[in-house]
Amino acid sequence: MPVRILALVGSLRAGSTNRRLAEAAVKVAPEGAEVTLFEGLGDIPFYNEDIDVEGGVPAAAARLREAAQATDAFLLVSPEYNGTIPAVLKNAIDWLSRPYGAGAFGGKPVAVIGTSLGQYGGLWAQDEARKSVGIAGGKVIEDLKLSIPGSASRFAETHPYDDAEVAAQLTDVVARLHGNVGAAA
Ligand code: FNR
Repeated sequence: MPVRILALVGSLRAGSTNRRLAEAAVKVAPEGAEVTLFEGLGDIPFYNEDIDVEGGVPAAAARLREAAQATDAFLLVSPEYNGTIPAVLKNAIDWLSRPYGAGAFGGKPVAVIGTSLGQYGGLWAQDEARKSVGIAGGKVIEDLKLSIPGSASRFAETHPYDDAEVAAQLTDVVARLHGNVGAAA
């Protein structure tokens, strides 16, 4: 059975460059690894402890938790919104952080990458996603970074998979994430 990597994308728009980055990650996965793009983050209601009770968890949130429980590692791919993590991604992290102490991140390896319009490629959002996911229980690979600036122009005509530099960087990210599965804590 291949090592499973679940990709969570922080942008909901159809033409998202981060979504395309995640699609490219699916394609560059090495033999023995399988990257799956989670669909449906936008359907998950805001986290609310009142509904996070037996019988109350919305189906969309339960689906995310099931997919997260079934994976071996996570790849977060996100732009920056106003200097930080887009709400949709933060909401997913919050849902996966509970039940407290038994959330689906559960010490599994996590890599955070992304592309943004600004000259730092969304570095702040990705750093804060690392902080948040680490607190939520993930084993963040701190030195595994990829922040690609100028998202709109860089990927206007070219899919990230067809951008040789980006494809090589992504190949390295996915291979290293794969290599961290099962590695000593
Ligand atoms: C942005 N964008 C942006 N870019 C950036 O580098 N730093 C920022 O703080 C912000 N803030 C921001 C807020 C909001 C509400 C939006 C809609 C956009 C621009 C953003 O990086 C750009 O639109 C990316 O291309 C979005 O990623 P997707 O949708 O292409 O994946």
